[in-house]
Amino acid sequence: MKVLVTGGAGFIGSHIATRLVAEGHEVVAFDNLTSGKRENLEHLAGKVELVVGDVRDAAALVDVSRGCAVAFHQAAIVSVPYSVDHPQETHDVNIQGTLNVLHAAKANGVKRVVFACSAAVYGEEPESPKVETMRPVPVSPYGIEKLTGEHYLDVWNRLYGVETVSLRYFNVFGERQDPRSPYSGVISIFVDRALKGTGVTMFGDGGQTRDFVYVGNVVDANMLAAFTPGIGGSNFNVGCGGQTTLLELLAMIEEIVGAKVERTHNAPRQGDIRESVADIGKIRAKLGYEPKVGVQEGLRRLIASLKA
Ligand code: UD1
Repeated sequence: MKVLVTGGAGFIGSHIATRLVAEGHEVVAFDNLTSGKRENLEHLAGKVELVVGDVRDAAALVDVSRGCAVAFHQAAIVSVPYSVDHPQETHDVNIQGTLNVLHAAKANGVKRVVFACSAAVYGEEPESPKVETMRPVPVSPYGIEKLTGEHYLDVWNRLYGVETVSLRYFNVFGERQDPRSPYSGVISIFVDRALKGTGVTMFGDGGQTRDFVYVGNVVDANMLAAFTPGIGGSNFNVGCGGQTTLLELLAMIEEIVGAKVERTHNAPRQGDIRESVADIGKIRAKLGYEPKVGVQEGLRRLIASLKA
């Protein structure tokens, strides 16, 4: 079938596109190439159509989604601190952009929209692990934006018959995650520095935890969310169900790379959450999801691919 991947030239989007092509789908990637890159789709040359465009452009989304049965909405500004520094820009991309995708889906009869939501919606909720039934208390513009997107999906599902599924990603890592910005994901930065033999900065004492999840597991979750019947209007955590402190993470990276990494500590980052771990009971029960690749194995694969 024909499917749309917004953010299709980005880190997670390009992995979703790769799986979709392997499963015989016709894939259109829509990406403004701000953080996405053409080279992320190089291995799919001739197999994926890349349309360069911005999710803030509602008309472009209507054009590109024509004839698509499923839309995987991955395009976003993904950094929590960037949203703290630029809340209006992230609002436009992350909220208006999601609304535009839903509008296009309704206009073109796209049957299902799968949304890249985030664990950031839980915010200050003190209990762990995070369960989908908890009241979300976002503590960053980014958290608000992802939660708003999820609410929009729910309403589109109720009102307009667009089946929607929201996946609350925990901390996704893997090949093609770009380490070059100060706003990049922590694993991409730490692994890059460890391989270059330069030091890392930890914001806070390093005792904050994250549920790091290898990108292959996230692709599995997307396929289940897109193709399991009867789940319109639902949301699911996507993680491994385990938590790792930043200090433990760095120790794992040091062990795999085989070298000590120097670290300095700075003040904690504004908008950061302290503890983050997913309860993955719901996605296991309803979709049959299993995180097949654990954190250590994912780190091994990532480091091996960067060395190669
Ligand atoms: C990440 C994702 C976000 C996703 C969320 C889900 C990125 C860039 N962000 O946010 O899209 O929705 O998970 O949980 O992928 N840190 C350091 N040193 C560094 C970089 C980061 O100590 O050089 C710390 C941060 O202060 C934070 C932790 O590492 O405490 C994780 O940071 P980051 O990788 O940016 O992810 P989140 O903010 O959790």
